Amino acid sequence: MAFSKALPYILLVTMLFTVGPTMAQLSPTFYDTTCPNLSSIVEDVVRQALQTDARAGAKLIRFHFHDCFVNGCDGSVLLEDSVADGIDSEQNAPGNQGIQGQNIVADIKTAVENACPSVVSCADILAIASNSAVVLAGGRGWEVQLGRRDSRIANRSGAVSNLPSPFEPLANLTVKFANVGLNSTDLVSLSGAHTFGQSRCRFFQGRLSNFSGTGMPDPSLDPTYRDILLEACPQGGDDNRVNLDPTTPDEFDNNYFTNLQGNRGLLTSDQVLFSPPGAATTVDVDRFAASQEVFFDAFGASMIKMGNIMSPSTTTDGSEIRLTCSRVNPLPTLADM
Ligand code: HEM
Ligand SMILES: *[C@@H]1O[C@H](CO)[C@@H](O)[C@H](O)[C@H]1NC(C)=O
Ligand SMILES: *[C@@H]1O[C@H](CO)[C@@H](O)[C@H](O)[C@H]1NC(C)=O
Ligand SMILES: *[C@@H]1O[C@H](CO)[C@@H](O)[C@H](O)[C@H]1NC(C)=O
Ligand SMILES: *[C@@H]1O[C@H](CO)[C@@H](O)[C@H](O)[C@H]1NC(C)=O
Ligand SMILES: *[C@@H]1O[C@H](CO)[C@@H](O)[C@H](O)[C@H]1NC(C)=O
Repeated sequence: MAFSKALPYILLVTMLFTVGPTMAQLSPTFYDTTCPNLSSIVEDVVRQALQTDARAGAKLIRFHFHDCFVNGCDGSVLLEDSVADGIDSEQNAPGNQGIQGQNIVADIKTAVENACPSVVSCADILAIASNSAVVLAGGRGWEVQLGRRDSRIANRSGAVSNLPSPFEPLANLTVKFANVGLNSTDLVSLSGAHTFGQSRCRFFQGRLSNFSGTGMPDPSLDPTYRDILLEACPQGGDDNRVNLDPTTPDEFDNNYFTNLQGNRGLLTSDQVLFSPPGAATTVDVDRFAASQEVFFDAFGASMIKMGNIMSPSTTTDGSEIRLTCSRVNPLPTLADM
């Protein structure tokens, strides 16, 4: 092929991988002209999903969190294994194993593509859907910042190292949040998302009877709550699911924090925000338990911060508006020109 014939192709591929507002400021009005009804389209699909799945919203906000913690909010967590595209899915990392909600993301993407083809990124869909999830569960929304682009790579090892584990002590959680620019107030407010959704028994079973090899239950676990959990998680019930918030399981409110004050946090990573003597986070738990309005303010501010975690690699690895959230776009061929 002569160079002159190849030139347009080289230019196009170069544009695909370098052009795009990868480091640009996000903005709440980003899609106002290109997709004016976007947030109501997303909210409608989330509302519909909630009719058959009370955890639909919880699944979506968790996806956004796991997206943002690895290479920034670039939809990387949504990519599924593909040898042809060189994708080793982040969903294979321990912190993502069994993550749910891919089907809901696909339904939202279909509705969005029908209204505004090829303009809205999957990363932004997760950000908007998170806000819808909170609002539809009785919480307060925030000014969702938009304009992210989708990655063409996944970073499984980044997911292994960056995602927090439910077994970690406070110091480790604090470091993992600090590594992405979030402070201990953000750690506490964002953990408040455990006001809805569920966890499998495998993630807290160790607290019930033989905590850290002591032969005793976790001392920071309320005994009555422990009895309920023992019943919900019998031998062999590792995959049973239990509400993260035993008080108001499907509602977005500040009961997560009053639960912590009563030793009714489900995961070690929940209860350590309140119980360790001298923990720097106890003050924020108390503030959010005392006032739902204060919690809602802090949660919105922290969600905007989390949504701004930026990938230093998007500029070199390229980005796109993915057509299907679970796989990268096919590359253009010469036949397309
Ligand atoms: C602080 C560190 C965190 C840890 C260690 C953690 C860990 C977990 C674990 C182990 C589960 C249960 C997963 C399963 O059974 O498959 C879970 C569920 C959940 N997490 Fe977190 N999480 C953390 C922070 C967050 C944050 C920041 C958010 C969102 C802003 C969030 C939102 C959720 C939601 C909504 C669920 C329920 C999902 C469902 O019902 O499917 N979590 N988390
Ligand atoms: C936008 O949504 C509103 C109400 O949800 C609807 O009345 C209107 O027709 C929609 N506009 C477009 C362009 O889809
Ligand atoms: C993967 O994530 C890790 C941890 O954030 C980061 O150091 C690394 O540069 C990322 N790799 C790629 C290829 O983006
Ligand atoms: C906490 O972090 C330390 C230092 O990185 C690590 O050695 C330890 O395994 C972590 N603890 C847990 C429970 O992950
Ligand atoms: C965390 O950052 C927010 C601003 O993003 C600030 O208001 C808050 O005081 C900080 N918290 C701590 C413990 O530094
Ligand atoms: C508790 O765990 C420790 C360490 O894993 C083990 O040595 C011990 O036998 C266990 N105790 C009971 C009562 O199961």
